[in-house]
Amino acid sequence: MNETRIKVVALNGSARKSGNTAILLRYVLKELEKEGIETELIELSGKKIHGCLACRKCAENKNRRCSVTGDMGNAFIEKMEAADGILLGSPTYVADITPEIKALMDRACLVSKANGGLFRRKVGAAVVAVRRAGAMHAFDTLNHFFLISEMIIPGSSYWNIGIGREIGDVERDEEGIQTMKVLGQNMAWLLKKIKN
Ligand SMILES: Cc1cc2nc3c(=O)[nH]c(=O)nc-3n(C[C@H](O)[C@H](O)[C@H](O)COP(=O)(O)O)c2cc1C
Repeated sequence: MNETRIKVVALNGSARKSGNTAILLRYVLKELEKEGIETELIELSGKKIHGCLACRKCAENKNRRCSVTGDMGNAFIEKMEAADGILLGSPTYVADITPEIKALMDRACLVSKANGGLFRRKVGAAVVAVRRAGAMHAFDTLNHFFLISEMIIPGSSYWNIGIGREIGDVERDEEGIQTMKVLGQNMAWLLKKIKN
């Protein structure tokens, strides 16, 4: 029997490219790939993304895209719409997520609502890097997006948080890495149940 093609996109909201959040996300993606799932990691770092303008034009246009053009918002929304699973990653910035990933979440959320739920019943999971404190708040913020989008969230053996400050420090957080691996395995399991 031919298995359906399954794709997961990971969006890393860190201002620092290939940093700790990217490392953690790659551990999740590696497990998904072992299960034959296609993956893509997109780093928001260095890419222009504006916040929601509250213009409500998406509710008028209903064209599955944001009316704000000239930045990467719609390109990211398109990637999210095309995927079966979405990972949102962020480092902890002042006990919350980065403004870049929040900008994307706000715009994707309103565009989705204006078009009957673009992400409904997709699988979603959050990944957070932290030096010391505030990661739970950041983790919760990311999860708000999945929950309001009618998405399904798999769990792991702990909350999906990895500890480290300098790039690569998270590799020494054994439990954090294990949490990412289990998350990838559970996400793959859930995606296969839904898609096949
Ligand atoms: C602007 C800024 C704010 C930060 N705020 C926090 C914080 O509130 N709590 C914390 O533990 N670490 C904080 N950090 C440290 C990062 O969360 C940590 O270095 C993380 O590993 C960075 O992930 P990255 O390599 O993916 O960017 C902050 C870093 C920056 C640049």
